[in-house]
Amino acid sequence: MEKVFLDDLKIGDEIVKFDRGWLGTDFLTHKVRIDNQAVIDRLRQNGIEYVFIKPRNEELQKLDDLLDGKSANIINEIKEQSSQCQLNLKDLHQASDVYTESVRIVGSVLDDIKCGGAVNSTAIKHVSDSIAEMTMKKRGVLTSITKLKQHDNYTFHHSMNVSIFAASLATHLGMNKTEVQIAANSGLLHDIGKMLVPEELLNKPGKLTPEEYKVMQTHVIRGYEYAKKCGVPEEELKMIIEHHERHDGSGYPYGLKDEQISIFGKIGAVVDIYDAITSDRVYNKGIAATSALKLMFQWADKHINKSIFEFFIKNVGIYPVGSLVIMATKELGMVGKMNAANPMTPVVVIFMNKNGGRMPIKVVDMAKSALDSQKIIGLINPENVSVPPEVYKYIENMNTVG
Ligand SMILES: [Fe+2]
Repeated sequence: MEKVFLDDLKIGDEIVKFDRGWLGTDFLTHKVRIDNQAVIDRLRQNGIEYVFIKPRNEELQKLDDLLDGKSANIINEIKEQSSQCQLNLKDLHQASDVYTESVRIVGSVLDDIKCGGAVNSTAIKHVSDSIAEMTMKKRGVLTSITKLKQHDNYTFHHSMNVSIFAASLATHLGMNKTEVQIAANSGLLHDIGKMLVPEELLNKPGKLTPEEYKVMQTHVIRGYEYAKKCGVPEEELKMIIEHHERHDGSGYPYGLKDEQISIFGKIGAVVDIYDAITSDRVYNKGIAATSALKLMFQWADKHINKSIFEFFIKNVGIYPVGSLVIMATKELGMVGKMNAANPMTPVVVIFMNKNGGRMPIKVVDMAKSALDSQKIIGLINPENVSVPPEVYKYIENMNTVG
């Protein structure tokens, strides 16, 4: 740990501790990454004078450190706390391994494409098989960790998330194993064309000019042609070519209308939009799941297929079982059960009080509570919280008994 005054902070620094407790601030945790000047301004507005950061030379170990290292730490931390909760810990560990390993593989496949190489279909198949299998076996466990890492290397984390969400949605829609695999596979590949458009456009801060936007739109056709050339089967090309088509025909590249868009194209549109607007980008903070939901409701049956969207939010998207949430009271909890009638009102198992201390488990069924204080105000990144093993056990019981 290194003590640094705000004026000396650099983009990319990772804060591990403030000069005061985080509860008196509007940050959800001490662990904050300096992605832009706005974060430093926000620290200043909170009256913070200095912070402690991770040593800067560790920045270079991006993937290993940020992803493997951290997720391995949480797993180890949880593991150490208990040996009684094997099943849940094993699930979480497995899900985390699948995610970590998949991110690594997808990252290198996308890099290969950027350098003119072919799509490594064996590697992609390996990843999508594990995603499909994990999703079908343990609904929710994998979707709840999609937010584990979202800051760096946006396109491949986005591809991973779209793949997981698409496989999960396909599972909930009752599709068979082959179809779930197609969803997972094409989710990974849906944006490969982005590797073929100039990098300045992908990372441009602010709005694209109309000409730049046109170039950006070519990622769909470029991706389709590239994947086809590499022998990706026809049914897996559908999400690549159709994920920007819109229900009312206003999309691109062909302006197809709902009935002309395949089921994989429709799934792709919903999960692509959802993940894109809820993820943090370098220049753009993701919006809360609840606001995304409101926004997407307005688009349903205009831009996206309403039934698929409703199915997605009821079963997958907003607060999957295992998501960590912060309540209006600033207490933290884990979603224990979803409410199929209303995705906004799950059952939450609260285990941390507003001061960040442990408290006896308290269960809030949001469908039955009219109190405003029992509202969820945000999702918490699982890497920032160590969840007591009895919470997992409690949730497992909840789901087996009732
Ligand atoms: Fe796209």
